[in-house]
Amino acid sequence: MNYLIGIDLGTSSTKTVLFDENGEVIASASKDYPLYTPNNGWAEQKPEDWRDAALETIAKVVKDSGAAADDIKGLGISGQMHGLVMLDEAGEVIRPSIIWCDQRTEKECEEMTEKIGRERLVEITANPAMTGFTASKILWVRNHEPENYAKCRHILLPKDYVRYILTGEFATEVSDASGMQLLDVPKRQWSDEILEKLDIDKNLLAKVYESPEVTGTILPEIAEKTGLSTSTVVVGGAGDNAAAAVGTGVVEDGKAFTTIGTSGVVYAHTSKISIDPQGRVHTFCCAVPGAWHVMGVTQAAGYSLAWYQANMGASYEAEAKEKGCGVFEIINKEVEETPIGANKLIYLPYLNGERTPHLDANCRGVFFGLSSMHTRKDIVRAVMEGISYSLTDCKDILSEMGINVSDMMACGGGAKNALQRQMMADMYGCDVNTVTATEGPALGVAILAGVGAGIYDSVETACRKMIHKDPAKECKPIAENTKEYDKYHQLYKNLYAALKDQYKTLAEL
Ligand code: XUL
Repeated sequence: MNYLIGIDLGTSSTKTVLFDENGEVIASASKDYPLYTPNNGWAEQKPEDWRDAALETIAKVVKDSGAAADDIKGLGISGQMHGLVMLDEAGEVIRPSIIWCDQRTEKECEEMTEKIGRERLVEITANPAMTGFTASKILWVRNHEPENYAKCRHILLPKDYVRYILTGEFATEVSDASGMQLLDVPKRQWSDEILEKLDIDKNLLAKVYESPEVTGTILPEIAEKTGLSTSTVVVGGAGDNAAAAVGTGVVEDGKAFTTIGTSGVVYAHTSKISIDPQGRVHTFCCAVPGAWHVMGVTQAAGYSLAWYQANMGASYEAEAKEKGCGVFEIINKEVEETPIGANKLIYLPYLNGERTPHLDANCRGVFFGLSSMHTRKDIVRAVMEGISYSLTDCKDILSEMGINVSDMMACGGGAKNALQRQMMADMYGCDVNTVTATEGPALGVAILAGVGAGIYDSVETACRKMIHKDPAKECKPIAENTKEYDKYHQLYKNLYAALKDQYKTLAEL
């Protein structure tokens, strides 16, 4: 039997899974690490922690599975996108990585827009300057830590640093490189124009591959440490969302997924590049060679529910304890008992500003229509509906761009809730399904490794063979619910329009 390894380098932990060639999980291991916030709005992690977590979890799955080293044909890495890893001449880490959710680079984004022009930046990188993306982080180090910038010889993304440790190669791949804002996303190669205008030396950057391409093999000392073979190939891999797409079979036109974790993402595959000139959604290369994906982001999706629960939902915790059930059993029952529209209560989920559709760092959460008749049931239903209206906004922009979705998968923690899935099906007006495999990004990159190792012909054929819908969990839209939600969604959209200027005033008070 052939085996494949998928590594998912997340923000809270690294999870490594060893699969057989049919996609069955044989062994799995994960290791947590800290996130540092040395200043308000900053977010950093130590690349050495990612390295140690990867090496430890690989060694564990190889040992636990009992697989012979030579039967482990390929390895793929998926990871948190956008983080900046800087290495010196000797390949040593220069400073902690500034990661995706760090917000320190507003000034550097202005610098980028000034030097390149907003329109040209969107044309080449498919996105306006973003604080979360890597390019502005590079400029920040140059502006604030010139001594570190002077030492820098290699710039890598988080998962590509782990690749360097495993293979000794400086390589990246198109899906993750898209989030650096240095890639010409339509052409799938570094943009000389952007690099020149930002005065960044191209030699600092890694070689760009397609996601299933082989980028190297395991170094002898790493093979010895982990139990892998020096003939195990390491493929390009993918950024976390592009990897999750492969792991849920979203690799062909018409297919999309919604994931509800802390944030929410609506992701659609497209074989023809499509860029929103307003920058409300991200367009990135995807893990299928020659194709792209468009993705809208709701910043506080699961986070809205977590916030509600932490600050106003203490009574749920107490009741769940008393009844010996889960909090969500009680919440779901109450949401079911409450009519669509939460008795005329609307929630805007903009707790920490919003990416899609407003790209507005100043907007904030709102409960609109609060009445003395409302109880916690209406409030929690309004929160769930507000998250779903925001995700529907993401999906609507994709439709506006001509990306039609006929097949929507749901994944992430929030998608485990059948009620939330039905709400999405009703609002989207299309079927919402889940897949039987639950390993998402790790399975996605293991599939890419299987393509690179020659076990599968292509990403699409591997997905057709290995990824299956769970028929027991299918949600079909209910036409009368769709009509009812539409009325409230319209009002929800009008509320942001009415409040836009007030948010700015509030921020400046
Ligand atoms: C994508 C994004 C996140 C990170 C962390 O743009 O910011 O998905 O990759 O998970």
